[in-house]
Amino acid sequence: MRLLIVSNRLPLNGVQQNGKLIFEQSAGGLVSGLSAYLDSLKSTSAQDIEYIWIGWPGITVPDKMQPEVKSVLSDLCASPVFLSEEAMDKFYLGFCNKIIWPLFHYFPTYTVYDKDYWFQYQDVNKIFRDAVLEVIKPGDIIWVHDYHLMLLPSLLREKLPHTPIGFFLHIPFPSYELYRLLPAAWGNEILRGLLGANLIGFHTQEYAQYFLRSTLRILGYEHKLGQILSQDHAVKVDAFPMGIDYQRYHSIPSGSEFGHNLKELEQLLHGFKAILSVDRLDYSKGISNRLQGYKLFLETNPQWCEQVVLLMIVVPSRVGVEHYQQMKRQIDELVGEINGRFGTLNWTPIIYQYKHSPLDSLLAMYRQSDVALITPLRDGMNLIAKEYVASRTDQTGVLILSEMAGAAKELGEALIINPNNLEAIAGALQQALAMPETEQKKRNQVMQHRLKGYDVVRWSGDFIQELLQVQKDQFFTL
Ligand code: UDP
Ligand code: G6P
Repeated sequence: MRLLIVSNRLPLNGVQQNGKLIFEQSAGGLVSGLSAYLDSLKSTSAQDIEYIWIGWPGITVPDKMQPEVKSVLSDLCASPVFLSEEAMDKFYLGFCNKIIWPLFHYFPTYTVYDKDYWFQYQDVNKIFRDAVLEVIKPGDIIWVHDYHLMLLPSLLREKLPHTPIGFFLHIPFPSYELYRLLPAAWGNEILRGLLGANLIGFHTQEYAQYFLRSTLRILGYEHKLGQILSQDHAVKVDAFPMGIDYQRYHSIPSGSEFGHNLKELEQLLHGFKAILSVDRLDYSKGISNRLQGYKLFLETNPQWCEQVVLLMIVVPSRVGVEHYQQMKRQIDELVGEINGRFGTLNWTPIIYQYKHSPLDSLLAMYRQSDVALITPLRDGMNLIAKEYVASRTDQTGVLILSEMAGAAKELGEALIINPNNLEAIAGALQQALAMPETEQKKRNQVMQHRLKGYDVVRWSGDFIQELLQVQKDQFFTL
């Protein structure tokens, strides 16, 4: 069986360095989750699945370099979709990240409803359709990912009536009241676009219910146990909470890099309790609320000054969008204010890093931190929360998690907070730092058991199995 994974971003991101094009690992949960799954396919010969990942290589590649890039990537099972600067500007920065992302994360005032963005979204989805048609072979399965490609399932269905097509949304699907803010023609076409798939997956039941509600209100389609009627092919809607590669986080990596990182961190954090915060720089992640909560904690708990450090890792993201630039300025200012106000010659309250960290270094941070503070205002899932819990091999450590993250549905033993409640953030920090080890272990044990049982391999296996089942059953039900 061959699986075609289709997403806007490939796991490799092209960057220009000294006039040369090099490839680095891409950021974000979609890439890290799917890469972990695909790596597992390489290591288990039992699963007879080949794959190709189709997507944008993260940079505009001049025509004359395209054959070379194609050949480099094809050795890595990736097939690039080349897009012009203008397309990326209006499609990626525009429609995807100035309309869908803010709206689906409940920031309706950040949206810019520009018609040209919509036209470009339609065009780029067609470019992806052609890219899939170029590589597809009989017997292949197609799995489309995320909000950049919501028209693609039905564009493909027109050409491939019998191919199993799955779609997974990695971000929240909003309530109908939010969804209906999209101009009617766009909202309508996006729903029809998704319904081209046989199986539409979401991280939580809630997102799946919101999607079903919008299809009923807007298109008038009823459903029975998530199976949508009134289609010429079967469509099932279901929840599949994305897991992580549990063993990767729970075991000791073989290379020397991890040990080196761990030692360095040990020295840096020696004598302090460490609170960890890791995110892409995104307004949906609630980073400034988190800093305000930490500030309030230091104000109201002076006994913790010079005893605790916030290790804050922020990964650059979507720097071409104004609201991201604004957020960066806001965070820089807040970090400066807190360090200036509370810091002493011997103590910096926040250690702040603005760059992407490789897995070894991230894992060392998870292992060295007493508390993980994760406070998104809205988040489809949040894999960092799961990775932190999995990495605690001795089962100590406290996770503080926003109730607005999809992951909170599975990690109920964490200290769950409302990210808009600064007192709750400060109170949870206090509670976490004072929590007895026995209680920490009790909570983590339950969460680890759950994460181990439903890891990323199980997640993808369940999705593909259900996709094939829906497709098979349609011959009996239609
Ligand atoms: N990540 C990473 N290096 C970093 C920060 C994050 O590799 O410096 C990875 C992290 O391990 C996680 C993913 O990026 O798997 C972030 O996924 P999440 O679902 O938490 O958030 P997203 O960025 O997708 O919104
Ligand atoms: C989230 C989205 C992904 C996206 C990632 C990084 O995880 O769900 O689709 O790839 O953020 O964002 P970027 O805009 O850099 O691809």
